[in-house]
Amino acid sequence: MKKLTYGMVGGGPGSFIGDAHRKSINIDGMATLVAGCFSRTPEKCRQTGAELGIDPDRCYASFEEMAKAEAARPDGIDFVVVVTPNVSHYPVCKAFLEAGINVSCDKPLCLTVEEGEALVKLAKEKNLLFLVTYTYMGHVTAKHIRKFIADGKLGKIRTVQAEYPQGWLAYEGEWGGKQGEWRCDPKQSGGVNCLGDLGTHVENAVSRMTGLKIKRVLARMDKLVPGRVLDDNDMVLVEYEGGAVGTYWTSQVAIGHDNDLRVRIYGENGSILWKQEECEKVIMISRDGTIVERHRGNGGIEDCAAAYGRLPSGHTEGWLESMGNLYKSFITCVAAKKEGKPYEIDYPTVEDGLEGVKFVHACLKSNEQGSVWVDL
Ligand SMILES: NC(=O)c1ccc[n+]([C@@H]2O[C@H](COP(=O)([O-])OP(=O)(O)OC[C@H]3O[C@@H](n4cnc5c(N)ncnc54)[C@H](O)[C@@H]3O)[C@@H](O)[C@H]2O)c1
Repeated sequence: MKKLTYGMVGGGPGSFIGDAHRKSINIDGMATLVAGCFSRTPEKCRQTGAELGIDPDRCYASFEEMAKAEAARPDGIDFVVVVTPNVSHYPVCKAFLEAGINVSCDKPLCLTVEEGEALVKLAKEKNLLFLVTYTYMGHVTAKHIRKFIADGKLGKIRTVQAEYPQGWLAYEGEWGGKQGEWRCDPKQSGGVNCLGDLGTHVENAVSRMTGLKIKRVLARMDKLVPGRVLDDNDMVLVEYEGGAVGTYWTSQVAIGHDNDLRVRIYGENGSILWKQEECEKVIMISRDGTIVERHRGNGGIEDCAAAYGRLPSGHTEGWLESMGNLYKSFITCVAAKKEGKPYEIDYPTVEDGLEGVKFVHACLKSNEQGSVWVDL
């Protein structure tokens, strides 16, 4: 495969996730960063560009300028990575899609259902590929669970219990620095904090692992730390199409929890327990109560999932590799499409991103109306 090129919007000095995307893409070396609008401040953009060895002519003062200029170049980027705060996801993604450039955007996809629907439509019209980086779904064990359940081995699913507690915003008068400040600011995060940030991960993890489609939700979204304007603890009852039920809990006030995404799935043939902080293993319990712990790199992992492993068992793979797995399949598809070859999508798409936004908005509506059932 010929190495592709990409650009980045966001990921400037002191930012968090942009650097993780760059490192994850570098794991397999299938694409090179050649352009960017790393910050709204041109000086900071040039600083990051210089640190990363980017041609100063391809360090842009605005994402609009970057989309136009890259689309006009014969050697323009093959895809853009959008890693800005949530408020700008929609305009940035729209600009690059309109310019005919494939997109990778971090979650949540955007702020409103209308924006999400517009991005789905635009990507389809322009025939472009669109990855939404629900990072955890790149884990080999998560892919194993998806295949195991899709093959019907767990039987009909009866209930799902999923949660994503964190503790970093538990302290009164503290706003979690640069990353916490925009998350807690309605102008920059769209009227939702914790559920948009963590609940979309939970919604996507359950949806991708089980294939279940949410029919309706009943949500209670609280602001537990004095001074918070947006939710910092959310509890959601979920009913899926087909009759299964579930509960989701997300929190930023759960002191002692870091990135404790956990999914427990109970079907008629057994149960599956998965924790992202122990992502190298998955616990599978069969109908007679036998408990088996399957480990990445060892036998018993579905072939299509095991194929993403890079290291022998016991040499730990983690979060960066998981993001790298999403990019491995996305970049493979972008390259195949470029060469007119067939490709198979094995990553969360813009449609999955839209499902997350619909979930958040149904929960907001439920909460506003006094925690009543709201259809998706
Ligand atoms: N997939 C995951 O697990 C995961 C984890 C953390 C964050 N995220 C998502 O990643 C996104 C960024 O989060 P973060 O924590 O890295 O934020 P951050 O505040 O650390 O970084 C944001 C960066 O974007 C830049 N920026 C802002 N507006 C811009 C614009 N218009 N043009 C160019 N650059 C601009 C800022 O200067 C900064 O460098 C959010 O949407 C967040 O939800 C995802």
